[in-house]
Amino acid sequence: MNEKLKLLLEKAQTETENALSTRDLQDLKAKFLGKSGEITALMKEMRNIPPEERSSFGKLVNDLKEEVANLFSIREKTLKDKELKEQLEKEAVDITLPGTKQKMGSIHPLNIVKNEIISAFAGMGFEIFEGPEIETDYYCFQALNIPKDHPARDMQDTFYIGNDIVLRSQTSTGQVRVMENKKPPIKILSPGRVYRADDDASHSPMFHQCEGLVVDKGVSLCDLQGLLNEFVKVVFDKETKTRLRPSYFPFTEPSVEVDVTCSKCHGKGCSLCKGTGWIEILGAGVVNKKVLENCGIDSNEYSGLAFGLGLERIAMIKYGVNDIRTFFENNVKFLKQFDRR
Ligand code: PHE
Repeated sequence: MNEKLKLLLEKAQTETENALSTRDLQDLKAKFLGKSGEITALMKEMRNIPPEERSSFGKLVNDLKEEVANLFSIREKTLKDKELKEQLEKEAVDITLPGTKQKMGSIHPLNIVKNEIISAFAGMGFEIFEGPEIETDYYCFQALNIPKDHPARDMQDTFYIGNDIVLRSQTSTGQVRVMENKKPPIKILSPGRVYRADDDASHSPMFHQCEGLVVDKGVSLCDLQGLLNEFVKVVFDKETKTRLRPSYFPFTEPSVEVDVTCSKCHGKGCSLCKGTGWIEILGAGVVNKKVLENCGIDSNEYSGLAFGLGLERIAMIKYGVNDIRTFFENNVKFLKQFDRR
């Protein structure tokens, strides 16, 4: 019988040695020590053993069991270490390989221009006001001295989305909203989207404007030109000059169009400025007394100046873009050119 146990031990030893993975070892464990394992089966032979030998036989089987279990646990540790090492080698990262470049976005040209304008005017003490894009006819027109049926309404093809409800066609709405709620001195800049039923290379049904408004005692056209001179130096270059031409807007009196010296030829005359040396950039004027009064501001005590510019127009001049639609196509090749990193 002892011989049988010895053989079993030797068999367990060789098979354990031969087990090459923890998985194999698991199977071996079952084969020897499991419920119907070979060592467990020995116990069942107890009954064929003479009673006086049973206890010593039992001890031998238990010793064998312990020894085999020990064999397994030693082998298990070796195999586990080996498998961990293999796994780490397999999953190792070669830190010397070049990385995958992350694609980073860049700031949209219209936002670049908007940020420059905001920083130019913020430097001169302007606060930002953002009004709603869906407006009433009153804020978009009537309060700005454009009564119903006034021919000036033809200047802008407005989207009506309800009775007296419009998509604002100009950020001048912000003038009224601010003056209604704030006592002078007022100095605000109101950037935002505006909408007009117009669609070609230089007009988009949605575009961006930036409105400026100053109301205080003794404000005049001279102040307007002073402010704009500073602003064009930031957005274009230090040599840029402005000139005012008479114009008409119902909400300013007098009204002007403001031109800048052409950023391409610096006033000499080229294709961009159609040979004139000047490019129109915005509309402006002295706030019409009627508008001040509509907003509850005493026009004998206070005067104001206002200007409104199109961001797309400024960006087109600054970057030499000749089709406004380019700004809204999200063509990465186009946008990448403005990446300053
Ligand atoms: N709101 C005018 C436009 O959209 C521009 C403007 C603003 C003119 C303020 C004068 C004063 O054309």
